[in-house]
Amino acid sequence: MKGIVLAGGTGSRLYPLTKITNKHLLPIFDKPMIYYPIQTMVDAGIRDILVVTGGRNSGDFLKLLANGKQFGLKHVNYAYQEGEGGIAEALDLAEHFADGDKVCVILGDNIVEKSIRAAAQAFEKQESGAKVLLKQVEDAERFGVAEIKDNRIAGIEEKPKRPKSNYAVTGIYMYDGSVFDKIKTLVPSSRGELEITDVNNAYIREGTMTFDFLEGWWTDAGTFDSLLRAANLVSSTRQANVPGYEAIEP
Ligand code: DAU
Repeated sequence: MKGIVLAGGTGSRLYPLTKITNKHLLPIFDKPMIYYPIQTMVDAGIRDILVVTGGRNSGDFLKLLANGKQFGLKHVNYAYQEGEGGIAEALDLAEHFADGDKVCVILGDNIVEKSIRAAAQAFEKQESGAKVLLKQVEDAERFGVAEIKDNRIAGIEEKPKRPKSNYAVTGIYMYDGSVFDKIKTLVPSSRGELEITDVNNAYIREGTMTFDFLEGWWTDAGTFDSLLRAANLVSSTRQANVPGYEAIEP
């Protein structure tokens, strides 16, 4: 399976931090944000990775990541999104790279604690369709929200005012080769974007969507609050993994 990290958009919710750089180059504790989703891919066993970026500072990704040696990669692929027409528009730029294979997509501002390897392996075995990873949250109205009936996803609503559940659809998606045909049928939403939730609902209507629950903590990092939360979560997890750390706590 190939990997696609989506790091386009303007990061307007983080202005003025994003006035002179791309959101995904901002620090999360001790590393640039983009390092985390790439590491998540690599830890899941995915080695062929495309980074979709955009905006004025896209050249900085090449300077930072180069050929991905810091992740044990030999090569990184890059694509450029003009404007910010939505997550599904950014994904559409990966059609040539995917070349009919299954893909694992991670949003560039999604940070996870634990490995997604088991879910990736399960999707490798899935004949066709898609898989999303869900996480129970208290602020579901900020996300795509899945309604589950009879152990299947009945539908996903994007940022509903009154969520039907507290199962957020995280920014980790796995798709078969038909995803690009589905994107081509989309029309822009009220916020003027091609929505990834519309892609997922197309798979749900087709009856080929599966889901897993994400283990460990998960956060996005696209607002001031979530940017700070991401740094704090990474920092405390790092410290908790230092042998003897608890022993030196007061
Ligand atoms: O974080 C998970 C959530 O991400 C999901 O629950 C939602 O269903 C999904 O729509 C998305 O919600 P956001 O509104 O928070 O997405 P945002 O616009 O912040 O974009 C998230 C990432 O997607 C961003 O860091 C880079 C990439 N992106 C986004 C846009 C709009 C692109 O590459 N190009 C784009 O045009």
